[in-house]
Amino acid sequence: MAEFYDQLASLYHLIFQDWDKSIARQATQLSEIIKTEWGSGIGTVLDVSCGIGTQALGLAQSGFRVTASDLSSEEITRAKREASARSLDIAFSVCDMRQVYQHHGGNYDLVISGDNSIPHLLSDDDILAALRQMHACLRPGGGCLITLRDYDREERGKGIVKPYGVREAGDKRYLVFQVWDWEDDQYDLTMYFVEDDRSSKAIQTQVMRSRYYAISPNKVLTLMEEAGFAAVNRLDDVFYQPVVIGTKLS
Ligand SMILES: C[S@@+](CC[C@H](N)C(=O)[O-])C[C@H]1O[C@@H](n2cnc3c(N)ncnc32)[C@H](O)[C@@H]1O
Repeated sequence: MAEFYDQLASLYHLIFQDWDKSIARQATQLSEIIKTEWGSGIGTVLDVSCGIGTQALGLAQSGFRVTASDLSSEEITRAKREASARSLDIAFSVCDMRQVYQHHGGNYDLVISGDNSIPHLLSDDDILAALRQMHACLRPGGGCLITLRDYDREERGKGIVKPYGVREAGDKRYLVFQVWDWEDDQYDLTMYFVEDDRSSKAIQTQVMRSRYYAISPNKVLTLMEEAGFAAVNRLDDVFYQPVVIGTKLS
Protein backbone atom coordinates (compact mmCIF):
# COMPACT_ATOMS: atom_id res chain seq x y z
CA MET A 1 0.00 0.00 0.00
CA ALA A 2 2.63 2.54 1.08
CA GLU A 3 4.64 1.57 -2.03
CA PHE A 4 1.70 2.43 -4.33
CA TYR A 5 1.40 5.93 -2.84
CA ASP A 6 5.17 6.42 -2.60
CA GLN A 7 5.25 5.91 -6.39
CA LEU A 8 2.19 8.14 -6.85
CA ALA A 9 3.33 11.04 -4.64
CA SER A 10 4.95 13.21 -7.32
CA LEU A 11 2.09 12.61 -9.81
CA TYR A 12 -0.89 12.66 -7.43
CA HIS A 13 -2.03 16.22 -8.27
CA LEU A 14 -2.49 15.11 -11.93
CA ILE A 15 -5.52 13.09 -10.87
CA PHE A 16 -7.26 16.47 -10.57
CA GLN A 17 -7.97 18.87 -13.42
CA ASP A 18 -6.71 21.68 -11.15
CA TRP A 19 -5.46 20.46 -7.75
CA ASP A 20 -5.42 23.93 -6.14
CA LYS A 21 -9.02 24.54 -7.15
CA SER A 22 -9.99 21.12 -5.74
CA ILE A 23 -8.18 21.93 -2.47
CA ALA A 24 -10.15 25.17 -2.16
CA ARG A 25 -13.50 23.65 -3.19
CA GLN A 26 -13.14 20.71 -0.79
CA ALA A 27 -12.15 23.04 2.07
CA THR A 28 -15.23 25.20 1.50
CA GLN A 29 -17.54 22.19 1.41
CA LEU A 30 -15.91 20.46 4.41
CA SER A 31 -15.96 23.68 6.47
CA GLU A 32 -19.69 24.02 5.75
CA ILE A 33 -20.34 20.41 6.83
CA ILE A 34 -18.26 20.88 10.00
CA LYS A 35 -20.15 24.07 10.93
CA THR A 36 -23.55 22.50 10.23
CA GLU A 37 -22.84 19.28 12.13
CA TRP A 38 -20.70 20.44 15.08
CA GLY A 39 -21.12 24.23 15.24
CA SER A 40 -18.24 26.66 15.64
CA GLY A 41 -16.39 24.70 18.38
CA ILE A 42 -14.10 22.80 16.02
CA GLY A 43 -10.55 24.20 16.15
CA THR A 44 -8.19 21.22 15.94
CA VAL A 45 -8.36 18.71 13.09
CA LEU A 46 -6.48 15.42 12.81
CA ASP A 47 -6.28 14.06 9.23
CA VAL A 48 -5.32 10.36 9.50
CA SER A 49 -4.81 9.74 5.73
CA CYS A 50 -3.68 13.12 4.43
CA GLY A 51 -1.73 11.94 1.37
CA ILE A 52 -0.13 14.98 -0.27
CA GLY A 53 -2.59 17.18 1.65
CA THR A 54 -5.71 17.74 -0.45
CA GLN A 55 -7.93 18.21 2.62
CA ALA A 56 -5.26 19.12 5.21
CA LEU A 57 -3.89 22.09 3.22
CA GLY A 58 -7.33 23.55 2.52
CA LEU A 59 -8.58 23.15 6.07
CA ALA A 60 -5.42 24.84 7.38
CA GLN A 61 -5.98 27.66 4.87
CA SER A 62 -9.53 27.93 6.26
CA GLY A 63 -8.20 28.54 9.78
CA PHE A 64 -8.30 25.08 11.39
CA ARG A 65 -5.23 23.91 13.34
CA VAL A 66 -4.32 20.79 11.40
CA THR A 67 -2.25 17.77 12.37
CA ALA A 68 -1.88 15.21 9.58
CA SER A 69 -0.40 11.78 8.98
CA ASP A 70 -0.31 9.08 6.32
CA LEU A 71 1.21 5.65 5.76
CA SER A 72 3.24 6.85 2.75
CA SER A 73 6.47 8.63 3.68
CA GLU A 74 6.89 10.02 0.13
CA GLU A 75 3.45 11.63 0.30
CA ILE A 76 4.28 13.13 3.69
CA THR A 77 7.52 14.55 2.26
CA ARG A 78 5.54 16.17 -0.55
CA ALA A 79 2.75 17.35 1.81
CA LYS A 80 5.38 19.14 3.93
CA ARG A 81 6.73 20.83 0.79
CA GLU A 82 3.23 21.88 -0.32
CA ALA A 83 2.45 23.31 3.15
CA SER A 84 5.70 25.23 3.22
CA ALA A 85 5.04 26.65 -0.29
CA ARG A 86 1.72 27.97 1.05
CA SER A 87 3.23 29.23 4.36
CA LEU A 88 1.02 26.82 6.31
CA ASP A 89 2.01 25.40 9.68
CA ILE A 90 0.82 21.76 9.69
CA ALA A 91 2.39 19.01 11.82
CA PHE A 92 2.89 16.13 9.34
CA SER A 93 4.13 12.65 10.22
CA VAL A 94 4.08 9.05 8.99
CA CYS A 95 1.57 6.81 10.77
CA ASP A 96 -0.73 3.89 10.06
CA MET A 97 -4.31 4.95 10.77
CA ARG A 98 -4.74 1.76 12.79
CA GLN A 99 -2.29 3.24 15.32
CA VAL A 100 -3.21 6.92 15.31
CA TYR A 101 -4.07 7.13 19.01
CA GLN A 102 -0.71 5.70 20.11
CA HIS A 103 0.96 8.11 17.67
CA HIS A 104 -1.03 11.35 18.11
CA GLY A 105 -2.79 10.98 21.48
CA GLY A 106 -6.25 12.37 22.18
CA ASN A 107 -8.33 15.50 22.63
CA TYR A 108 -8.79 16.53 18.98
CA ASP A 109 -12.01 18.31 18.02
CA LEU A 110 -12.32 16.50 14.69
CA VAL A 111 -10.75 13.49 13.01
CA ILE A 112 -11.01 13.16 9.22
CA SER A 113 -10.13 10.61 6.57
CA GLY A 114 -10.77 11.97 3.07
CA ASP A 115 -11.12 10.61 -0.45
CA ASN A 116 -11.69 6.92 -0.09
CA SER A 117 -8.74 6.07 2.15
CA ILE A 118 -10.65 3.74 4.50
CA PRO A 119 -11.26 1.11 1.74
CA HIS A 120 -7.49 0.59 1.57
CA LEU A 121 -7.98 -1.44 4.77
CA LEU A 122 -9.01 -4.81 3.41
CA SER A 123 -11.20 -6.22 6.18
CA ASP A 124 -13.94 -5.12 8.58
CA ASP A 125 -11.57 -5.91 11.47
CA ASP A 126 -8.90 -3.53 10.17
CA ILE A 127 -11.46 -0.79 9.50
CA LEU A 128 -12.93 -1.25 12.96
CA ALA A 129 -9.43 -1.03 14.49
CA ALA A 130 -8.84 2.27 12.66
CA LEU A 131 -12.25 3.65 13.69
CA ARG A 132 -11.61 2.74 17.36
CA GLN A 133 -8.29 4.59 17.19
CA MET A 134 -9.94 7.61 15.56
CA HIS A 135 -12.58 7.59 18.31
CA ALA A 136 -9.83 7.53 20.98
CA CYS A 137 -8.16 10.58 19.38
CA LEU A 138 -11.25 12.76 20.01
CA ARG A 139 -12.31 14.85 22.95
CA PRO A 140 -15.84 14.14 24.22
CA GLY A 141 -18.25 15.80 21.79
CA GLY A 142 -15.66 15.67 18.99
CA GLY A 143 -16.53 14.59 15.47
CA CYS A 144 -15.38 12.08 12.90
CA LEU A 145 -15.76 12.78 9.17
CA ILE A 146 -14.96 10.21 6.49
CA THR A 147 -15.46 10.55 2.74
CA LEU A 148 -15.56 7.52 0.46
CA ARG A 149 -16.85 6.13 -2.80
CA ASP A 150 -20.36 4.77 -3.04
CA TYR A 151 -19.48 1.24 -4.17
CA ASP A 152 -23.16 0.34 -4.47
CA ARG A 153 -23.14 2.48 -7.63
CA GLU A 154 -19.98 1.08 -9.22
CA GLU A 155 -20.00 -1.36 -12.13
CA ARG A 156 -18.24 -4.66 -11.30
CA GLY A 157 -16.20 -6.89 -13.60
CA LYS A 158 -12.76 -7.14 -15.14
CA GLY A 159 -10.89 -4.49 -17.13
CA ILE A 160 -13.18 -1.60 -16.27
CA VAL A 161 -11.60 1.63 -17.53
CA LYS A 162 -11.96 4.83 -15.49
CA PRO A 163 -10.65 7.78 -17.54
CA TYR A 164 -9.42 10.82 -15.61
CA GLY A 165 -8.39 12.88 -18.63
CA VAL A 166 -5.51 14.72 -20.20
CA ARG A 167 -3.31 17.01 -18.09
CA GLU A 168 -0.87 19.61 -19.42
CA ALA A 169 2.30 20.36 -17.44
CA GLY A 170 4.75 22.58 -19.33
CA ASP A 171 6.08 20.63 -22.31
CA LYS A 172 4.59 17.43 -20.96
CA ARG A 173 1.15 16.01 -21.51
CA TYR A 174 -0.21 13.19 -19.35
CA LEU A 175 -3.06 10.82 -20.11
CA VAL A 176 -4.38 9.57 -16.76
CA PHE A 177 -6.66 6.58 -16.31
CA GLN A 178 -7.37 3.63 -14.03
CA VAL A 179 -8.33 0.03 -14.77
CA TRP A 180 -10.31 -1.94 -12.18
CA ASP A 181 -10.38 -5.74 -11.87
CA TRP A 182 -12.93 -7.07 -9.40
CA GLU A 183 -12.66 -10.20 -7.31
CA ASP A 184 -15.64 -10.71 -4.98
CA ASP A 185 -15.89 -7.60 -2.76
CA GLN A 186 -12.36 -6.40 -3.54
CA TYR A 187 -10.73 -5.05 -6.68
CA ASP A 188 -7.26 -4.31 -7.99
CA LEU A 189 -6.87 -0.75 -9.19
CA THR A 190 -4.13 -0.12 -11.74
CA MET A 191 -3.25 3.53 -12.25
CA TYR A 192 -1.67 4.62 -15.54
CA PHE A 193 0.12 7.89 -16.28
CA VAL A 194 1.15 8.06 -19.95
CA GLU A 195 3.70 10.87 -20.18
CA ASP A 196 4.31 12.52 -23.57
CA ASP A 197 7.30 14.87 -23.39
CA ARG A 198 6.82 17.00 -26.46
CA SER A 199 10.23 18.66 -26.24
CA SER A 200 12.35 15.47 -26.05
CA LYS A 201 9.72 13.34 -27.90
CA ALA A 202 10.13 10.71 -25.15
CA ILE A 203 7.03 8.78 -24.19
CA GLN A 204 6.82 6.72 -21.04
CA THR A 205 4.07 5.13 -18.98
CA GLN A 206 4.13 4.81 -15.22
CA VAL A 207 1.94 2.05 -13.87
CA MET A 208 1.11 1.29 -10.23
CA ARG A 209 -1.30 -1.11 -8.62
CA SER A 210 -3.23 -1.29 -5.36
CA ARG A 211 -6.12 -3.27 -3.86
CA TYR A 212 -9.33 -1.90 -2.36
CA TYR A 213 -12.11 -3.42 -0.26
CA ALA A 214 -15.40 -2.13 -1.68
CA ILE A 215 -17.04 -1.45 1.66
CA SER A 216 -20.28 0.52 1.35
CA PRO A 217 -20.74 3.82 3.20
CA ASN A 218 -23.64 2.24 5.11
CA LYS A 219 -21.43 -0.62 6.32
CA VAL A 220 -18.86 1.96 7.52
CA LEU A 221 -21.66 3.60 9.55
CA THR A 222 -22.38 0.26 11.23
CA LEU A 223 -18.70 -0.16 12.09
CA MET A 224 -18.56 3.43 13.42
CA GLU A 225 -21.36 2.59 15.85
CA GLU A 226 -19.46 -0.52 16.89
CA ALA A 227 -16.37 1.65 17.48
CA GLY A 228 -18.36 3.82 19.92
CA PHE A 229 -19.55 6.72 17.76
CA ALA A 230 -23.01 8.19 18.34
CA ALA A 231 -25.25 10.13 15.93
CA VAL A 232 -23.73 8.37 12.93
CA ASN A 233 -25.11 9.64 9.67
CA ARG A 234 -24.54 9.56 5.95
CA LEU A 235 -24.57 12.83 4.00
CA ASP A 236 -25.14 12.71 0.25
CA ASP A 237 -24.93 15.61 -2.21
CA VAL A 238 -22.79 17.82 0.07
CA PHE A 239 -19.42 16.64 -1.28
CA TYR A 240 -18.27 14.91 -4.47
CA GLN A 241 -18.58 11.55 -2.70
CA PRO A 242 -20.67 10.36 0.28
CA VAL A 243 -19.63 11.67 3.69
CA VAL A 244 -20.14 9.57 6.83
CA ILE A 245 -20.01 11.24 10.20
CA GLY A 246 -20.20 10.33 13.88
CA THR A 247 -19.70 12.04 17.23
CA LYS A 248 -17.93 10.87 20.38
CA LEU A 249 -20.39 11.10 23.25
CA SER A 250 -19.70 13.68 25.95
C1 LIG B 1 -6.88 8.27 -2.27
S1 LIG B 1 -5.60 8.76 -1.19
C2 LIG B 1 -6.30 10.18 -0.39
C3 LIG B 1 -5.26 11.05 0.27
C4 LIG B 1 -5.78 12.42 0.74
N1 LIG B 1 -6.82 12.29 1.71
C5 LIG B 1 -6.23 13.21 -0.48
O1 LIG B 1 -7.43 13.33 -0.71
O2 LIG B 1 -5.35 13.71 -1.19
C6 LIG B 1 -5.67 7.50 0.07
C7 LIG B 1 -4.61 7.68 1.15
O3 LIG B 1 -4.79 6.71 2.18
C8 LIG B 1 -3.50 6.41 2.68
N2 LIG B 1 -3.55 5.16 3.44
C9 LIG B 1 -3.86 3.92 3.01
N3 LIG B 1 -3.79 3.04 4.01
C10 LIG B 1 -3.44 3.74 5.12
C11 LIG B 1 -3.22 3.39 6.47
N4 LIG B 1 -3.35 2.13 6.90
N5 LIG B 1 -2.90 4.38 7.34
C12 LIG B 1 -2.76 5.67 6.93
N6 LIG B 1 -2.94 6.06 5.64
C13 LIG B 1 -3.29 5.10 4.76
C14 LIG B 1 -2.65 6.31 1.43
O4 LIG B 1 -1.27 6.34 1.70
C15 LIG B 1 -3.18 7.52 0.66
O5 LIG B 1 -2.46 8.69 0.94
